[in-house]
Amino acid sequence: MIGTDVSVAASLLKEGEVVAIPTETVYGLAANALDTKAVSKIYAAKKRPSFNPLIVHVSDLASAQRYVKNFPPIALKLAEAFWPGPLSILLSKHSSIPDLVTAGLPNVVVRVPKHPITLELLKKIDFPLAAPSANISNTVSPTSAQRVNQNLGERIKYVLDGGASEVGVESTIISAQNNKIVLLREGGISQEQIESILGSKITLNTNAKISSPGQLKKHYATNKKLIVTDNLQKTLSNYNDKRCSALLYETKEVPESVTSYHLSKTYNLPEIANNLFECMHLADEDKSEIIVVEKCKEEGIGRAINDRLRRASW
Ligand code: TXA
Ligand code: MG
Repeated sequence: MIGTDVSVAASLLKEGEVVAIPTETVYGLAANALDTKAVSKIYAAKKRPSFNPLIVHVSDLASAQRYVKNFPPIALKLAEAFWPGPLSILLSKHSSIPDLVTAGLPNVVVRVPKHPITLELLKKIDFPLAAPSANISNTVSPTSAQRVNQNLGERIKYVLDGGASEVGVESTIISAQNNKIVLLREGGISQEQIESILGSKITLNTNAKISSPGQLKKHYATNKKLIVTDNLQKTLSNYNDKRCSALLYETKEVPESVTSYHLSKTYNLPEIANNLFECMHLADEDKSEIIVVEKCKEEGIGRAINDRLRRASW
């Protein structure tokens, strides 16, 4: 069921149920992070392999500090700059966080989401929320309550509707151990934004082979073949015997037979990120056989867009 009642969501969570929640990045599938039984329902509902850890969502920095062993100065600087917001930070976990949340790893990823309804929800409960994206594993993440309902509706009791997600791609994940920042996943806060706060370059480790689907090749995948290309027109002409849809960054001429979706009309990167997953969903549902999209500019949030396209392509 979809609804806008924060109290209903809070009650269900207190009873150990899972509830889909809005965040500024994508919708999350939440449960009490301190309750192993509740957390196990997340893994079951989204068919998530148990080796893939979950992000812990809290209402503010002080709560985040409670669930980690220590919060180094460099992490504090970034949390102060970007929270609430799409930055997730990996730190040594406090013993109160069950091993199931971190898939047995000694570290936990924490973040303060920037969504008024979810912040209100977090204030109504006295526990943090473990929440992966609210989709069946390896499918495209949802940026609206309706998409969550379509994908997971039969498996969960309540989808808290907070409107369309503002950012549209998942949070950036950094590790902040030994007072050193390493970028683990590109996302809503760009590498450039982080570097400008720190005044120095950060280390990139976005292709690290850790056992998590976020790092697997086919992730965020559409059901249809999705091709990422350097040259849209050329790829469309190579596939002119197939019905194609195209995701466009700006107004561009494509053959009449191609179904086009405008991620933006003016190559605006935040707008492209915002529309990306919904356009992937729409193209996946139309009558085309193949989805074609050009690589995005490799700058700012464009890096996260390219990362998601790369992982969706096959
Ligand atoms: O924007 C977001 O981050 C959304 C919203 C709902 O907050 N959440 C999200 O969660 O994208 P998920 O589970 O779909 O992606 C989290 C990624 C996974 O690839 C997981 O492997 C990694 O974070 N992760 C979480 N905890 C970790 C840990 N302790 N160590 C290493 N990787 C971790
Ligand atoms: Mg996910």
